[in-house]
Amino acid sequence: MENYIIALDGPAGSGKSTIAKVIAKNFGLTYLDTGAMYRMVALYMLQNNINFFDENAVESVLDNITVDIIDEKFILNNEDVSIEIRTPEVTKIVSAVSAIKAVRIKLVDLQRYISKGKKVILDGRDIGTVVFPNADLKVFLIASAEERAKRRVKDYLSRGIIEEFETVLKDILERDNTDSTRKESPLKKAEDAVEVDTSFMNIEESIKAISDLIQNKIGV
Ligand code: DC
Repeated sequence: MENYIIALDGPAGSGKSTIAKVIAKNFGLTYLDTGAMYRMVALYMLQNNINFFDENAVESVLDNITVDIIDEKFILNNEDVSIEIRTPEVTKIVSAVSAIKAVRIKLVDLQRYISKGKKVILDGRDIGTVVFPNADLKVFLIASAEERAKRRVKDYLSRGIIEEFETVLKDILERDNTDSTRKESPLKKAEDAVEVDTSFMNIEESIKAISDLIQNKIGV
């Protein structure tokens, strides 16, 4: 198939971005980390002291925000913020920012624009339901909250950030709840998505499961 879209959705910490990165490399795809785009907008709100619970305040500054992804670096208004967007401070507020309709409209437009005419894998929450309802393959990745919290703690540690398991678990459960109950594009498995539970799989097994799906469904 010349161009195709793979939608990889699922809750926080289900392994989407780790898996998507490897799949993109192995299959020669463009990888779009849509969560990172929401994180950049959330970081802007923090840096500029915008009350992100005030929809009007957020909407009024959206035109001042440019987000780019260049060579796997995340660029907010011409500044590389790849590290800043992964801090616990941003993680804590990103759900609230991503629930705002105007934010979603801006970023969904951008996601469709970047994906045009390419072979792409996008990871996120609403790729198969809203951004690309006609995606060629939709995968919904899940894992138990405890397993996801364990992975997050390890990931933080590898970057020198120490966070308690209980704190991370609480944050993950809160984020699951906000992401799946929000009015705008809630986290939800698309009817035609294939569910893959990675609770008892390591990264290699998860990558193999998704690669098999790509080969079977897309035939590459
Ligand atoms: O995948 P992540 O943890 O980097 O995502 C950060 C937040 O962005 C998450 O709380 C939900 C939101 N998000 C979203 O609403 N829609 C997407 N397509 C991707 C992420």
